[in-house]
Amino acid sequence: MPSQAIAKAPGKAILLGEHFVVHGSSALAVALDLGVEARAEKYDGNIISSGREDNIVSSKIEDAKGFLAPAAASLKQFLKDYSLSGVKVRIMSEIPESAGLGSSAASSVSAVAAVSRLFDIKLSKKKLYDYSMLAEKIVHGKPSGIDAFVSVNGGLVYARRKTKRVLQCKPFKLLVSYSGLQRNTGKMVSKVSSFKEREPKSFRNLIKAINALVPDVISGLKKGELPILAAAMNFNHEALRIVGASNQTLDAMVRDARDEGFVGAKMTGAGGGGCIIALPKQGGEKEFESFRAKYPYSFLCNVPADGVRSWLV
Ligand code: MEV
Repeated sequence: MPSQAIAKAPGKAILLGEHFVVHGSSALAVALDLGVEARAEKYDGNIISSGREDNIVSSKIEDAKGFLAPAAASLKQFLKDYSLSGVKVRIMSEIPESAGLGSSAASSVSAVAAVSRLFDIKLSKKKLYDYSMLAEKIVHGKPSGIDAFVSVNGGLVYARRKTKRVLQCKPFKLLVSYSGLQRNTGKMVSKVSSFKEREPKSFRNLIKAINALVPDVISGLKKGELPILAAAMNFNHEALRIVGASNQTLDAMVRDARDEGFVGAKMTGAGGGGCIIALPKQGGEKEFESFRAKYPYSFLCNVPADGVRSWLV
């Protein structure tokens, strides 16, 4: 008799269009082969915890605060809707928190997927997305939903306003490197929104430029041709710099990645900290090893990864 359910949900990297997507632009994101695992078991009470071994933080689901609050909000609503209680959920993340890799969406998606599997409730992808959006709204008030959608569905994802879909894409390698600086999505979204208020025309023109690049990038990725993506990533980093989402650390990492031979490099996610991504010319191992010597918190990911999966153990 299985006593536990496990779910694993991927994190994401935004290839193009973060921030601008909150204001109506197109964006492209991929699911990473790094993610969050949630384990659920029946228990006397409703408990959520996060961490590993000697570093575990727990709380009642009803009272969860801080970084447990987003996933707890999704779980609370799910338990209420299905009149369930008596569950302990533990979240273990392979991705750094507040790093722009979608850890909050992957936490809530994996937590709800594990609990629904434990109680044998079949949730559609749409419902799982809706529960995860409750968590995303706690993280910042105006989420585009791209993180939650990628974590549920996996793949290469196109997003624009309410439209989100998974697109065909040949597999490729992507460097993801963490600056070590935590970022605050809500704060960065407000910072970029104030740039838009100050400079509406420039902001509109940047959105136009990003939208113009996206179709060619999509057809390149479908055929496994990456130079267009590389060029678009380089442009997109400059656009994010203009609107105030980057900082000196991220700019230096992007420059170093290009110096090591990566053909495209940019910050990814909300910025102000968090991660950069970079595209290698071919396999990327050589560039990756020299880049990692300077930035140890680096991963050479195989993308796009699958969406959330769950099973009983
Ligand atoms: C955060 O990963 C990406 C942002 O565009 C915010 C969002 O899309 O909700 C900055």
